[in-house]
Amino acid sequence: MKKWNVAAVRASKGRMKLGCCTAYDACFARLADEAGVPVILVGDSIGMNVLGYETTIPVSMEDVLSAVGAVSRSVKNALVVGDMPFGSYQCSEDEAIKNAVSLIKAGADAVKLEGGESVCPIIRRLVSAGIPVLAHVGMMPQSVNAYGGFKKQGKTREEAEKVFLDAKAVEDAGAFAVTLECIPSDLAAEITAALKIPTIGIGAGPICDAQWLVMHDMLGLNEKVPSFVRKYADLASTVREAFSAYVSDVEKGAFPS
Ligand code: KIV
Repeated sequence: MKKWNVAAVRASKGRMKLGCCTAYDACFARLADEAGVPVILVGDSIGMNVLGYETTIPVSMEDVLSAVGAVSRSVKNALVVGDMPFGSYQCSEDEAIKNAVSLIKAGADAVKLEGGESVCPIIRRLVSAGIPVLAHVGMMPQSVNAYGGFKKQGKTREEAEKVFLDAKAVEDAGAFAVTLECIPSDLAAEITAALKIPTIGIGAGPICDAQWLVMHDMLGLNEKVPSFVRKYADLASTVREAFSAYVSDVEKGAFPS
């Protein structure tokens, strides 16, 4: 298997659909990589899945940096994308560049940030500094307070037009791919047909060039998951049963034997 790079991801459009996922630690990143996951996102969803927050808002650069280090040290072939957390690119372009550089130095092959037309100046500067950018439009979890909850976007004609224009804008600014989160599937299909770069959908229907799933959702580690998720394992039960068997063996004197 060859190491995935941004050129290969871009070239996959129309040839091969990519099943991509998040990972936040060395162990699961190694397993995903060995299984052939082409793109691993060290997402700011680390906030809910690992750090116990309700949203991605409190996640810091330090949180993502240490996870990017662990993941990138453990994969051989997957492209590792480091998510830029809330507050790491909103204050100034210079700070955005500095934070993106630190993600790349920690081992990420590319960075992801949320936003459409409004973040295009940052995308242009990152790309011209040699930092590949994966954009993210549609439902942007870092805007949860502005939405008043995690709400599907692009449902009205005006909203759909805005998401479409955002996707076109980030492509024009130089993003190598774009995440489409929680938008109607016909809008995702329209954007996928209109763009030259791959679309990576999550809750955006089947007509995208690639898909994301959050690792803890797809492995059944999270018992409550969004309705679009398919669980490929039930690790919560397996892990709970293993812990419980261990506790009971120790109590009974059956371990160590
Ligand atoms: O942080 C994350 O997990 C993400 C995915 C939803 C794409 O941004």
